[in-house]
Amino acid sequence: MQVHIRPLDVNDERDIESSFRIHAAAQAHDVPDFPPWSRTDHVGRLRHPWPGTSSDTWLALGDPDARGLVTVDLPNLDNTHMAIVELKVHPEYRRRGVGTALYTTATDFVRASGRRVLQGHYVTTLPGGAERRSRGVRRGDGR
Ligand SMILES: CC(C)(COP(=O)(O)OP(=O)(O)OC[C@H]1O[C@@H](n2cnc3c(N)ncnc32)[C@H](O)[C@@H]1OP(=O)(O)O)[C@@H](O)C(=O)NCCC(=O)NCCS
Repeated sequence: MQVHIRPLDVNDERDIESSFRIHAAAQAHDVPDFPPWSRTDHVGRLRHPWPGTSSDTWLALGDPDARGLVTVDLPNLDNTHMAIVELKVHPEYRRRGVGTALYTTATDFVRASGRRVLQGHYVTTLPGGAERRSRGVRRGDGR
């Protein structure tokens, strides 16, 4: 499946809404025992990155709604070898290559930024979770 990806515009309300919808749906699906994702926090994180950190987000477009997103944070004061990646695909659109396309966008950007280590978080214990080892990902403790 062809996946169209473009940078999210933090000043575009439709992009904000699309990204919030994906985050909220993924959280309700993947970690239903967590408190609901706050729109205020979401908008704040997009528009005001952590001090000393640059943040870029890309949306995977769909018709009519976006289907996934990836955010790459680059620490610029310390840990300048690292990139922190957060990838989410709307539960209704998984297993169609959207996650892979977003991951490729993120890793291309990370390499071009000269970063050597990619850090991310994921849930390993819920039923139906993704098999990450097949993507060459290692746990931080080396196991
Ligand atoms: C992980 C995630 C991004 C994958 O998105 P996706 O669009 O479904 O990914 P793709 O369709 O590109 O899948 C690529 C491959 O990953 C593996 N995979 C993905 N989901 C899987 C699952 N539930 N179980 C087993 N393997 C899985 C498969 O090998 C798949 O290839 P295949 O469909 O040909 O078998 C998505 O499940 C998600 O948003 N999960 C919740 C958030 C998360 O854990 N993010 C990761 C780091 S922040």
